[in-house]
Amino acid sequence: MQRRQLLKKSAFAMLSFSMARDLMGAPLSRVASASLPDNTGAIILRANENPHGPSPLARTAMQEAVAISNRYQWDMNGLLRERIGLLTNHTREHITLGAGSSELLGLVCLWASYQKGHVIASEPTFKLWMPAARKMGLATQLIPLTATKHNDLERMLASINSETRLVYLCNPNNPTGTAHDKKTLEKFVEQACKSCIVLVDEAYTDYYDTASLAHLVNQQPNLIIAKTFSKVYGMAGARVGYLLAQPSLIRSLNELQAWANAGPSAVSMRGALAAMDDHAFVVFCKAENHKAKEIFCQGLAELKIPFIPSVTSFVYFDGAAYSKPIPNFLQSHQIVGARSFEEKSTWLRLSVGTTEEMKRVVEVLKAGR
Ligand SMILES: Cc1ncc(COP(=O)(O)O)c(C=O)c1O
Repeated sequence: MQRRQLLKKSAFAMLSFSMARDLMGAPLSRVASASLPDNTGAIILRANENPHGPSPLARTAMQEAVAISNRYQWDMNGLLRERIGLLTNHTREHITLGAGSSELLGLVCLWASYQKGHVIASEPTFKLWMPAARKMGLATQLIPLTATKHNDLERMLASINSETRLVYLCNPNNPTGTAHDKKTLEKFVEQACKSCIVLVDEAYTDYYDTASLAHLVNQQPNLIIAKTFSKVYGMAGARVGYLLAQPSLIRSLNELQAWANAGPSAVSMRGALAAMDDHAFVVFCKAENHKAKEIFCQGLAELKIPFIPSVTSFVYFDGAAYSKPIPNFLQSHQIVGARSFEEKSTWLRLSVGTTEEMKRVVEVLKAGR
């Protein structure tokens, strides 16, 4: 018993350590994360992972696929692209797969960096790809969000010049959880695509059926859409993501892949194929996410903590009025993940876990006020 408690304690210490490194802007410690069992008792709300996944069908498919992992899986890669195409109304030639969509964001940056120039993106937004982009010689021009924490589409458009190679638009935006309506997005893409590549990151569109721009791909040679199985499908650790674009652009991007078999493993691809068939699971995850988020937002409202209504699996809120620094306070109660994404800002993001986990978060915050 004592030994188990000790193990739990040290696992939590490692979790806190990896979290602290993340807070300082360094990558999460792979060793610490890899060795973390989920039985630390900690509530982990740091990376917008789906607390329910992978789906039962995906789990079974992945277990079975271990047996075929001795073979390269060219055919399955084509099959998965075809299956995704059925979902988005494209052919397999419109799609390239990656080990997670972040790998593909890097690929687009690599492609853009060959033409020298800069990338325009919001501040704050999903930025993990930016250090790599800078190393590849692609400067980043960051456009602050509007007062309502939306992407400032007008300023982004106005900032495009002859040096702009890429516009990155995260919709819904991470970390704020805000999204634009379809018409506004269509207008933005139509304008921006006139002069450069526009990469729209749709990692979170599924939670509220937020407008996707996938239907514009056939009209816009400069449009790329990034999607992932890491969120509503609950497969963050399996690493499956994809890009949608016109076939000629997909071919140019693939030329930068060192190997035709780049991307997800056989096990992960089988999981993704099964996940797309598990409609009941997706419906369940969306409903649970809405309930859990409602519990958290209700709690924030009762605590008079301002927050931004979110169409995603995380909530952005202002901890300024709370009696103590929320990240450390929650962490002292083994709730890990509240953190800031803006310099010198009191705004914090917390991922949405299960309903029980969010009840606990509210309970802790209320007790500590
Ligand atoms: C907006 C956004 N894009 C991409 C990713 C990366 O997803 P993946 O796991 O597919 O690399 C994330 C992960 O949190 C994200 O928030």
